[in-house]
Amino acid sequence: MNRKVSKAIFPVAGMGTRFLPATKSVPKEIMTLVDRPLIQYAIDEARAAGIEDFIFVTSRGKSALEDYFDLAPDLEASLEASGKTELLEILRNTNMDSGTIAYLRQHKALGLGHAVSCARKLIGDEPFAVILPDDVIAGEKPCLQQMVEAYQETGGAMVATMEVSPAQTSSYGVLDVADQSPRIVTARGMVEKPAAGTAPSNLAVIGRYILTPQVLANFDNIGRGAGGEIQLTDAIAEEIQSGRDVFGYRFEGERYDCGSKAGFLQATVAFALARDDLRDELDAFLTDLHVAKQAAQ
Ligand code: G1P
Repeated sequence: MNRKVSKAIFPVAGMGTRFLPATKSVPKEIMTLVDRPLIQYAIDEARAAGIEDFIFVTSRGKSALEDYFDLAPDLEASLEASGKTELLEILRNTNMDSGTIAYLRQHKALGLGHAVSCARKLIGDEPFAVILPDDVIAGEKPCLQQMVEAYQETGGAMVATMEVSPAQTSSYGVLDVADQSPRIVTARGMVEKPAAGTAPSNLAVIGRYILTPQVLANFDNIGRGAGGEIQLTDAIAEEIQSGRDVFGYRFEGERYDCGSKAGFLQATVAFALARDDLRDELDAFLTDLHVAKQAAQ
């Protein structure tokens, strides 16, 4: 099978209720880490991995997301006229070529698996990536690029994975491990949000996937799973049942769970501290906070 991965699905239909009231009018994916919307990090990661076609699975109330990816000719002209070349460059880097983005609506909130399966016709007969924008991964080499490179060797289906504490496994898809090398884990099973104490390992699935069209075909035979939703994990696990390879890829990099407020804040601080224009001021502020806290104890 062809191993070139040129399409990616971005499931962005979630209501983002954990961030209410902000998400009452702003899609979660537009919320900013420092000065870039969450979705921009996902797009940049996809581009670095060679993705050329971007498929957004959206829902009601997400039109701000489509607007974000539109051109801003007036703004560009005004920045150009005033000689603000750096800002102009930042703005232009977010531009997407016409015809490279598709928006699909998931009409019913039936779960992540259902959202991904909505893109079946657009995917056709080639391997594709899925990126969950809530999982922001900082690393020298972007996570999806690491996976695309590994996938050239392995084929099969591949999910990003990392160890989490046993107390956290029930929040994730979890791998049952047959075999592992430092980076590649061969899975013999996969379970979505296992009940406490029943997880087959502490290797959690993180929101980066490289999948084959067969995984989408598996949805024909899959009903509702954990939480009453149609689960992507179940369609991937079906590959293992059918004797096909599923691998976990232990990526290099720091992952932030930006679907939670604590994770979002941690990412904000970490990304700001990584920036030359913000580091010193923020660092001084954090040190002062820490000193004040210790003095109060
Ligand atoms: C989804 C997947 C889960 C995966 C997680 C990673 O869950 O269903 O398998 O481990 O993303 O972030 P969600 O966080 O959407 O509940």
